[in-house]
Amino acid sequence: SGATLKNAFKNKFYIGTAMNLPQVHETDEKSVGIIKNQFSSIVAENCMKSMFLQPEEGKFFFDDADKFVAFGEKNKMFIIGHTLIWHSQLPNWFFVDKDGKDVSAEILKQRMKNHITTVVTRYKGRVKGWDVVNEAIMEDGSYRKSKFYEILGEEFIPLAFQYAQEADPNAELYYNDYNEWYPGKVQTVIKMVKNMKSRGIRVDGVGMQTHVGLDTPSINEYEKAIVDYASAGVKVNITEMEISALPSPWGTSANISDTVEYQAKMNPYTKGLPENVKAEWENRYLDFFRIFLKHQDKIRRVTLWGVTDAQSWKNDFPVKGRTDYPLLFDRNDQAKPVVKKIIQLT
Ligand code: XIL
Repeated sequence: SGATLKNAFKNKFYIGTAMNLPQVHETDEKSVGIIKNQFSSIVAENCMKSMFLQPEEGKFFFDDADKFVAFGEKNKMFIIGHTLIWHSQLPNWFFVDKDGKDVSAEILKQRMKNHITTVVTRYKGRVKGWDVVNEAIMEDGSYRKSKFYEILGEEFIPLAFQYAQEADPNAELYYNDYNEWYPGKVQTVIKMVKNMKSRGIRVDGVGMQTHVGLDTPSINEYEKAIVDYASAGVKVNITEMEISALPSPWGTSANISDTVEYQAKMNPYTKGLPENVKAEWENRYLDFFRIFLKHQDKIRRVTLWGVTDAQSWKNDFPVKGRTDYPLLFDRNDQAKPVVKKIIQLT
C-alpha cells in the first residue's frame, strides 16, 4: 500500500535510519529503495567516525562521507553526523605524542579542535545535526574514564560543543549515549547539559541510543527519561533504535560463554522467530512508538539503527554470529507487519 513511515510521521518528528557502506555506495539497491520511500532522516552508521575520517593525523578521508551527505541532499533528508568525539572507533594516533607518550592537554585540545572544525566546516549547512560527544557517562552517573577524560577532565565535553558551534552556528548539537534511562546517568547528563547552557554553550538535544531487548528497560523508566531530558530544556532524539529478539548475555559468567550449549542458548532462532516471540517483539515496538507519539512535542527524531535484519550489527553484538531480528524490514527486504501497525498508531 501507499502508506509509509515518512508520511505517517511527517508533522510529528523525523523518522530516520542509519546507512552503512552498502547503502552509501548504493550497491544494495533494495535497501536504498526502502530508505528513499520510508525515511526522512539519515545518519552514517560508520563512515563519519574519526578512525575513518582522519586515519592519520591531518590526512582526512572524505569520499564515503561525501557520498552519504550527497545522498541525503538529493533525497531531501535531515542529515545527521555521527560522531565527532567518541572513545571508540578512534584512530590510535589521537592521544599519542611523537615520543609515544600521552599527549598534553594543550595538544589534545588542538587535535579535537582541528578534527571537529575540519569535519563540521566541510558539511556546514548540509549536515543539520551532530552527535558532538558520544558515550561519555556511565550508568552510575560517573564519567567514563576515557583518554579524553583522563587528559582533559569533564571539560572535554563543553570544549567539543564549543568547537562544533563555532564551525557551524546553525547546526543542531547533541549529546548521545546508551542506557540513558539509568537514574544516575540521567542525573549527570542533565547536570552537564545545564552547566553548558548556563555558560552559553549551546546544546540542542540529548540522543537516547535505543539498543534495547524484549525485557529491559521498562517502558515506564524509559518514558520518565524522555520527560526528564525535555524538562532540562533540550529536545530528545531517539537514536540507534532496534529491538533485539534474542536472549541478553549480560550477566552470564565469562567461563561458560565459550561452550557449545551457551552459543546455542544465545542463538536460538536461526530459522525464524516462533510466533509467540514475534508477537512479543511486535508489541514491544508498538509500546515504544506509543510513547514517542505521546511525547511528540519533545522528540525531534526517531532513528532506526539500520534498514534490514540482514545488515544489523546485532547479529554480531554482543555475541558474534547470531541470527537476530531487530529491525523493521526482514532479510528479503520486505516490511514486517509491524510497520503497518506503527503507521496505524499515528
Ligand atoms: C556500531 C556499528 O553499528 C557497527 O557496524 C560497528 O562495527 C560498531 O559500531 N553505539 C554507537 C554506534 O554510537 O556508533 C555503534 O555502531 C553502536 C553503539
